[in-house]
Amino acid sequence: MSNDKLIIFDTTLRDGEQSPGASMTKDEKVRIAKSLEKLRVDVIEAGFPIASVGDFEAVKAVAETITDSTVCGLARALDSDIDRAGEALKNANSGRIHTFIATSPIHMQHKLRMSPDQVVEQAVYAVKRARNFTDNVEFSAEDAGRSEIDFLCRVFEAVIDAGATTINVPDTVGYAMPWQFGETIKQLIERVPNADKAIFSVHCHNDLGLAVANSLAAVQNGARQVECTINGLGERAGNASLEELVMAVRTRHDVYDCETNIDTTQIVTCSKLVSNITGFAVQPNKAIVGANAFAHESGIHQDGVLKSRETYEIMRAQDVGWSHNRMVLGKHSGRNAFRTRLEELGHKFDTEAELNIVFSRFKDLADKKHEIFDEDLQVLMSESSGEALQERIKLISLKVCSETGETPTAELVLSVDDEEVNGSSIGSGPVDAAYKAIESIVDSGAHLQLYSVNNITSGTDAQGDVTVRFEKDGRIINGSGADTDIVIASAKAYINGLNRLLEPEVREHPQAADV
Ligand code: KIV
Ligand code: ZN
Repeated sequence: MSNDKLIIFDTTLRDGEQSPGASMTKDEKVRIAKSLEKLRVDVIEAGFPIASVGDFEAVKAVAETITDSTVCGLARALDSDIDRAGEALKNANSGRIHTFIATSPIHMQHKLRMSPDQVVEQAVYAVKRARNFTDNVEFSAEDAGRSEIDFLCRVFEAVIDAGATTINVPDTVGYAMPWQFGETIKQLIERVPNADKAIFSVHCHNDLGLAVANSLAAVQNGARQVECTINGLGERAGNASLEELVMAVRTRHDVYDCETNIDTTQIVTCSKLVSNITGFAVQPNKAIVGANAFAHESGIHQDGVLKSRETYEIMRAQDVGWSHNRMVLGKHSGRNAFRTRLEELGHKFDTEAELNIVFSRFKDLADKKHEIFDEDLQVLMSESSGEALQERIKLISLKVCSETGETPTAELVLSVDDEEVNGSSIGSGPVDAAYKAIESIVDSGAHLQLYSVNNITSGTDAQGDVTVRFEKDGRIINGSGADTDIVIASAKAYINGLNRLLEPEVREHPQAADV
């Protein structure tokens, strides 16, 4: 049995960011990229540089920060996209341009309005242009899952001749079935005459819940790169989840004759960071990173695990980073212990002043909450992130009254563009009253699509982590906030979302039809 390397290509910062509401700031992308580097991901797709000035700057910053992983930028098969990606990546230690064009009849005819011959010509042209910037060029045949295999063979042979070193086969709409997709990969590797000059890769979406199964079928049939995201984040139902793929290949090494370079003990930390930054909570029963993934509820299971762990556990919780002996900080913890723990969690302070600001927030929290866990620290860091968004609206104070048989009321003071304004309202509950009081001042016109509360750690003194999602004029924005008082956490999340909504954003979608 051979033991090939399976390249892990993480696209949390690009396809993951295409989840409605998951957009990240430059600083947030850099923090996640550092965590991915620690995880020893081979390739980090940092964004789509032509999409917006913000995304260009983010890809550039990631390229200038990361040294151990290759940093990749996405580009449609267009001069402007490729040149912008080349520019964003020019200072990368190792950079890759990922260019793509659609190859399925439905996309070529209705989206691109191009003939198959024109698509081949454009694909070859794009790869050659990308090669002017780097030797590391990936080509994707968008909607390959619904493309004709003969045509895929023709395109792939041409782009490999033009200099593509990775050939990616995306199941863009999540339509494939595992046995079919595996067979497609096998056929492509057998039939493309110059297949040996490129690595075959897959990029599966999860519309039918099969993204991981399809990717694994491809690996069994010779794919040696998988594109995936932390927590399975991504467009619509998401992408194949990195943690599930990596642990499947590792746990079933008897089936997969390949290995990844991933430091699996970093998985949980990275998952929590992505969840905190995007506001996308991880469902408790999510494989590997869900809070219950290693919890044994039933008496029979508990008894079995106590006698011999292997009776019901196929992986060890600590191998994916669920630590048993984690250090708990509290109000007597000093600056040094605090700094050390945060460094272990992947946060470095550039200056003493930065440390002091977060340390003082930590002390405030420790006054309210006896034990401070890693999860609390992650949230604290997310809230204190350096390049915070411009906070035009700030919460100065909030008072809510809620009593059995009475209508809840909220009174608050906001600072809006540095001016203090009072608002009040009644509501069906304290959170509703607080939100109406905020709106009595701001009148945002935004539609609240989602409100969710999760406890960050266990116990009644835990912080509540609130996520809200707004829609306004077609834009979808998430807001998040944490506090030991969930009404205050709710107000913080609402205001955070409004501040994000107030930031102007002009953004292109990669799969828009202008090739
Ligand atoms: O899903 C897809 O086809 C993509 C490509 C840009 C690789 O995300
Ligand atoms: Zn995708």
